[in-house]
Amino acid sequence: MSQVATFLSEHKWETAAALATAATALVLLRRATSATKRKSVATPADTKPRRTSTDYYASSFTLATIPSLVGRVAIVTGGNTGLGYHSVKHLAFNGAKVFLAARSKDRAETAIANLKAEAAAAGKIIDVEFVRVDLGDLKQTKDAAIALAKRVNRIDILVNNAGIMDVVTKEPFKLSKDGYEAMFSTNHLGHFMFTKHLLPVILKTPNTPRIVNLSSSATWMAPVYGIDYETLKKHNPAFSAGNYYGQSKLANLLFSTELHNKYGYQIAVNSVHPGVVDTELIRPDRFSLAWFFFSLIPKRWILSLIIGPILTPEQGAHAQLYAATHPEIDSKNIRGKFIIPYGVVSDDHHPKGMDKDLAKQLWDFSEQVCAKY
Ligand SMILES: NC(=O)c1ccc[n+]([C@@H]2O[C@H](COP(=O)([O-])OP(=O)(O)OC[C@H]3O[C@@H](n4cnc5c(N)ncnc54)[C@H](OP(=O)(O)O)[C@@H]3O)[C@@H](O)[C@H]2O)c1
Repeated sequence: MSQVATFLSEHKWETAAALATAATALVLLRRATSATKRKSVATPADTKPRRTSTDYYASSFTLATIPSLVGRVAIVTGGNTGLGYHSVKHLAFNGAKVFLAARSKDRAETAIANLKAEAAAAGKIIDVEFVRVDLGDLKQTKDAAIALAKRVNRIDILVNNAGIMDVVTKEPFKLSKDGYEAMFSTNHLGHFMFTKHLLPVILKTPNTPRIVNLSSSATWMAPVYGIDYETLKKHNPAFSAGNYYGQSKLANLLFSTELHNKYGYQIAVNSVHPGVVDTELIRPDRFSLAWFFFSLIPKRWILSLIIGPILTPEQGAHAQLYAATHPEIDSKNIRGKFIIPYGVVSDDHHPKGMDKDLAKQLWDFSEQVCAKY
C-alpha cells in the first residue's frame, strides 16, 4: 500500500491526467454508443457475443502482394485522408491510374502533393487525379459520375470509401442538403448514385472489375429488423447517433448484397470492415465539451483506453486493398462477402446484412430517391 501511496504522490499530475482521460473516455463512449437511458431501439448488438478489435486474423495479403496494376483505372471516394488516402497510395504506387474523389479541392490537392512527394522519394511516378464529388449532394454526385464515366473507357476498381460518423454530437439527427438523414445520405445514397452512373463503364471493363464498399462492424448498431425508413426524414427519439451511423453502414452492406445479386456474374463486389482505425472519422461538434477534450487529448489514446489496440490508417486500409487487388478474390471466387482485417472473409456483421429481400427493398428505395435528381 505504501508503495502505491508513494507512487501516487510522486506522479500526482500523471495520475490526475489519466483519471481525467478515463472520465472523458467514458463520457465519449456513452455518447458514441448512446448507452444511455434514452436508447431504446433494439439492435442485434444487444445479444451479440463479445468480440474485441484484436480478434483479427493473419491473411495471405500484405502490401507486397499487390500485383502490378499498370493499365488499370481505379476510383477511391474520400481519398484525401484516412483509409482512402492509403488506398489511393497503394493502388497508385502499383501502377493504377487513380481518380481521387473528394469534396474539397484543397484537401485533395494537398493529399496528391503528399502522395507525389512520397512516390518521388521511393523513385516512383504516380498518376493520381482529383475529381470533385460531394456525396452529401445527390445532384452534384450524379453530374460528377456522369462526367467521369464519359472520360474513361474502363473502371477496374471502385472503392466506395468516403463516410461520416457524426456520433460525438449534441444533435443525433441532422438532414443532408437533400433532406435525408445526413449519415445515411452521405454514406449510402451518395455512393448509390455515384456507383449507378459508373456502372455502365464498370460492366464493360474486362477481367472482373471490383467494387469495394466500406461498411463497418457498426452494422450491429442498426435496428434489429434492418433499415427503418421512417427515420430517414424524421428523427425517432429512440434512435441514438450510433444507431443512425449503424443504419447507414448496414445500408452499405445491403447495397453490396444487391449489387452482387444483380451483377455478381460480372463484378466482384465485396464490403469491408476495416477494423477500428485511428483516422479523422470522429469529428466532434466544434465548441462542445467533447470537442474541447478531443482537442486536448490524442484520440488514439482515448480510443485505446476504451477498446484496446487500434489500427493505423495504413493497417486499416489492408482489408479494402485486399478486396480491391488480391488475386485470391478471383481464384477463390470471393464475391458478395464481408471482409475484415487483414483480408479475411467474415460473417461478423448485422444478421440481416445479406438478406436478399431487405437488400432489394433498399435498392428500390434508393433508385426512387436518386431518380428525383
Ligand atoms: N476509422 C474506423 O475505425 C472505421 C471503422 C469502420 C468503418 N470505417 C469506414 O471507413 C471509411 C473511411 O473512413 P476513415 O476512417 O478513413 O475516415 P476519415 O479519415 O474521416 O475519411 C473520410 C473521408 O470521407 C470523406 N467525405 C466525408 N463526407 C464526404 C462527402 N460528403 N463527399 C465526399 N467525401 C466525403 C472525407 O472528406 P473530407 O476530408 O473533406 O471530410 C474523407 O476523405 C468510412 O466509410 C467509415 O465509415 C471506418
